[in-house]
Amino acid sequence: MRLIFQLLRIFPAVLSQVISNPKPEPFTDFVNYVFWYPAADAVQWHTLYARALQLPDESLLITWENYPLEPPLFNYSVMEDQMNGWGMRFQPFLYTLPEKFGGYAAGSVLAAGVSTPFSLAGGVYIDLYVSIDNAKSWKFLSHVAYGAGPETIKNGDDAIWEPFLMFYEGKIVCFFSDQRDPAHSQKLIHVTTTDLLTWSADVPDVVYPTQGDRPGMTTIAPSPLEFDSVAGIPLVSNDTHPITPYGSPYVIWTPNSNLQDGSGLIILSAGNQEVVYVGEDAADADGWKTVDTGMWSAYSRSMRIVTIEGVKKLLFANGGNMGDPDNNSIACGVVEIPV
Ligand SMILES: *[C@@H]1O[C@H](CO)[C@@H](O)[C@H](O)[C@H]1NC(C)=O
Ligand SMILES: *[C@@H]1O[C@H](CO)[C@@H](O)[C@H](O)[C@H]1NC(C)=O
Ligand SMILES: *[C@@H]1O[C@H](CO)[C@@H](O)[C@H](O)[C@H]1NC(C)=O
Repeated sequence: MRLIFQLLRIFPAVLSQVISNPKPEPFTDFVNYVFWYPAADAVQWHTLYARALQLPDESLLITWENYPLEPPLFNYSVMEDQMNGWGMRFQPFLYTLPEKFGGYAAGSVLAAGVSTPFSLAGGVYIDLYVSIDNAKSWKFLSHVAYGAGPETIKNGDDAIWEPFLMFYEGKIVCFFSDQRDPAHSQKLIHVTTTDLLTWSADVPDVVYPTQGDRPGMTTIAPSPLEFDSVAGIPLVSNDTHPITPYGSPYVIWTPNSNLQDGSGLIILSAGNQEVVYVGEDAADADGWKTVDTGMWSAYSRSMRIVTIEGVKKLLFANGGNMGDPDNNSIACGVVEIPV
């Protein structure tokens, strides 16, 4: 069986051709728009883990874990394993090069994801691919990391998960979740590259002292690269009935349109709630307010600031949850940026 990352390019003009429930008007705000359902005979979670990217012409790409039987369906393009004979299986991530890098022009699209056999045994790579034609076709660049597997969340299995790419001070950084150190059930680490081909030694980001603790998965909003040495800040909503986020985190940063002073807003999403948490640059422990945009939660709901006819909006991409695969599908939402 070959599993693929589905890549769909959404043009408002063709939304009428896909399943609507109901179809949002082009260029309006909406939530919970299911635009793609998995095949009835899809396996495992059917769909999960959606990630989006905007191209310079404002069209949107979305990718997710897709679990079809053969032959795999795809739409705009397909990112297939070109190296390992295993399939690109888990946690795709898309990123646009902000400047010329490693011989590729600004605007080239990078994709990283987990490649491992369907059996989940025999090894696992986080692999990096590049596209120079707006994600239409893909070329293998490098293995970012290798684990002996099997690719399970069991304490002691040499698994690696959830790559997240970021350009920072002349380097591309790949953050990921790492189970290869027997002293820690799981830790979060990153590696860097200056040429997209060779990668630095591992740098720890979150390493808990208790062997069985599992910090989860990394997403990063623009910030320095030092995490392991700083104290964590509790994340609790500051309203009269405080709540805390749990699992499937996603974080972004955007300029604060209320202040116009160069400062920003940090927006966080978690798997257990619909609300997003909004805080200011100081990440003050008392400054996390919650905003319910009405978008379903998901494992894991991703967020991205996009422009729709030039106006900045918050885009959500959902691939469903782990609870009930029969209820999983791919949904998106576009809302005003919560401030
Ligand atoms: C891809 O999307 C187009 C437009 O929505 C649709 O007509 C076509 O059937 C889709 N193809 C596949 C293989 O899903
Ligand atoms: C909660 O945090 C927000 C900043 O995100 C702030 O504007 C608001 O005043 C805070 N509310 C309380 C009750 O502290
Ligand atoms: C199906 O998924 C939607 C969206 O996440 C959710 O609101 C609903 O409760 C789910 N239904 C079941 C039966 O799990």
